[in-house]
Parts: sequence; structure tokens; C-alpha cells
Amino acid sequence: MKSILDTMKKKIGIAVLAIIIILQFFRIDKVNPEAVLANDFIVNTNPDEKTIKLLKSACYDCHSNTTEYPWYSNIAPVSWWLKDHIDEARGHLNFSEWTSYDKKKQLHKLHECYEEVEHGEMPLESYTWIHSEAKLSHEDREHLEHWFKSFGTFVDGDGD
Ligand code: HEC
Repeated sequence: MKSILDTMKKKIGIAVLAIIIILQFFRIDKVNPEAVLANDFIVNTNPDEKTIKLLKSACYDCHSNTTEYPWYSNIAPVSWWLKDHIDEARGHLNFSEWTSYDKKKQLHKLHECYEEVEHGEMPLESYTWIHSEAKLSHEDREHLEHWFKSFGTFVDGDGD
């Protein structure tokens, strides 16, 4: 009996390994869309040094075209999950394409940024597990909130 079980375990092990290997052939597209500096949020709004640092370390990997892919982005299925996040994040807000938003949408996005940071929703927790430099202290959050708020009246409504 034991040997039959052993053989089965071995077969299952080989099958699982084969599936994992096959998954690796489905690679994600890691070519960033062009990041035109003239269209960038930081370039256009000229924040203070600390805000620049926080935005770059905590937001830009997902919400811009300057994503730096980590080593595990080579490993499926983690890579798919990661790429999904980046695509989705850029769809909601892309700091590299800031000037393509009209004024109303920009204000709306700034409002959303404020809320996401205030509620501790952004950066995503799954990101800060690994990118400890992206963890925002209470003071960091306040600093960012202050910057997002400094653009004046918040526009209600969807704006998308
Ligand atoms: C690991 C990737 C990642 C990081 C880092 C990240 N975000 Fe996001 N962000 C997302 C994803 C995915 C969504 C869309 C889904 C959601 O809202 O959870 C999103 C959505 C948003 C939205 C839109 C919310 C809405 O209601 O449409 C805003 C605003 C935002 N993020 C701001 C930020 C800011 C500001 C930072 C940095 C402090 C940041 N994000 C960091 C992935 C990320």
C-alpha cells in the first residue's frame, strides 16, 4: 500500500512541477509605455523634495509609466497578479500622463489621492510587505495629504 501511495505522490509532484514550468512560458509585458517628462505630475506641479520622494517610493511603481519591476515579476503566476495591479492602477491614475487630464479630472484625482492616503488604502498593503521603503508613517501621510489638498477646491462627482 505504502509504495502505491508513494508512486502517486511522486506523480502528482511531477505534474505540479510541470504545470509550474509551463506557466513560466506566459510572460508579462514589462515594457513601460513612454514616460514623457513634460506630461508628468511631479514636473508639472513642482512639489517639495519630501513629497517627490514619497510619491516616487510609494506610488510611482504602479501609478506611472516608470515602473521598476522586481525580480519576482519573472515568476508566474505572481507576475500576472502584479501586472494586473499595475494596469489597473494606471487606468485609475497615471502620474506620467497627468497633463492629459483636464482640470476637473485633475482636481478629482487629487481628491481621491487625498482620501486614499488618509484612509491608509494606498499604497496597497501587498506592496508595502515587500517594499518597506514605501511604508508611510503618520507624518508621511500628513505630508502627502497636505500637498494633495493644496490645489484648492475639491470637485465632487466622478470626473473619470
Ligand atoms: C502596488 C500598486 C499600487 C501602489 C504602490 C499604489 N497604488 Fe493606488 N491603486 C492601485 C490599484 C490596483 C488601484 C485600483 C484598485 C483600487 O482602488 O484598489 C489603485 C487606485 C488608486 C486611486 C483611485 C481610487 C479610485 O477611487 O478610483 C488613487 C487615487 C490611488 N490609487 C492613489 C495612490 C497613491 C496616492 C499612491 C501612493 C501613496 C498609490 N495609489 C500607490 C495600485 C497601487
